[in-house]
Amino acid sequence: MTDTPTQYERPTTDLGSAHRSITPSILYFGTPVGVISTLNESGSTNLAPISSYWGLDDLLVIGLAATGHTVANLRRHPELVLNLCSVSQWESVECLGRLTGAHPVPRQKPSGTQFAADKFGAAGWTPLASTSVIPERVTELPVHLEAAVTGIRDEADQLAVVFARCQAVHVLDELTVAGTSHIDPGKWNPLIYNFRHYFGLGTRLGIAARAEVRAAGRCEVEA
Ligand SMILES: Cc1cc2nc3c(=O)[nH]c(=O)nc-3n(C[C@H](O)[C@H](O)[C@H](O)COP(=O)(O)O)c2cc1C
Repeated sequence: MTDTPTQYERPTTDLGSAHRSITPSILYFGTPVGVISTLNESGSTNLAPISSYWGLDDLLVIGLAATGHTVANLRRHPELVLNLCSVSQWESVECLGRLTGAHPVPRQKPSGTQFAADKFGAAGWTPLASTSVIPERVTELPVHLEAAVTGIRDEADQLAVVFARCQAVHVLDELTVAGTSHIDPGKWNPLIYNFRHYFGLGTRLGIAARAEVRAAGRCEVEA
């Protein structure tokens, strides 16, 4: 957190709001779950579930434990695949969350974490060759974002922020608007991590003015 600028004064009027100050241990307010593929030293692919990421144009920003196996892999080989999960995959994701590609298991890991050399096998998934990077994709996951790492910023408290540029996108055909590069939001049902509980999406509430897909199977692309 940055300090409050000294040249301004913070208003102190008590408006009697219904909010209460709390100190939660995590800030997992509900983000989509992905599984990140990185290259092990042996040349095999490691898989790890993540939820701390976002995308802006082709830029992916990913939050990771700085001392973790996934970051070590990325420092050695700066390529990744971000495989996005749909709701049906939550049990495989939960299984992978208790595994690490690091051997021996680092002491920072939660108790019960076990080493797994073959994360694909552990999750019941099948590797698929990528088109632009060496780490493999996960066949069973509906969306694959292949990306090249452009930087890793180490933060306090053993956190790392990874910056990567997406260079290839593969999506299950049935989730797209036929003949276009648009994903149909009515069909794509991401797995959401909400304070360590798994959810899907609720029903659509409305359509933004900037939406490109406005009805099932129809696109209106604005300039
Ligand atoms: C749903 C879910 C989301 C997670 N999100 C993250 C995350 O965003 N960043 C992170 O560093 N770890 C996250 N984890 C924990 C890692 O998946 C876990 O530490 C795993 O053991 C990492 O594997 P590795 O040691 O082979 O890198 C998440 C776990 C689960 C189950």
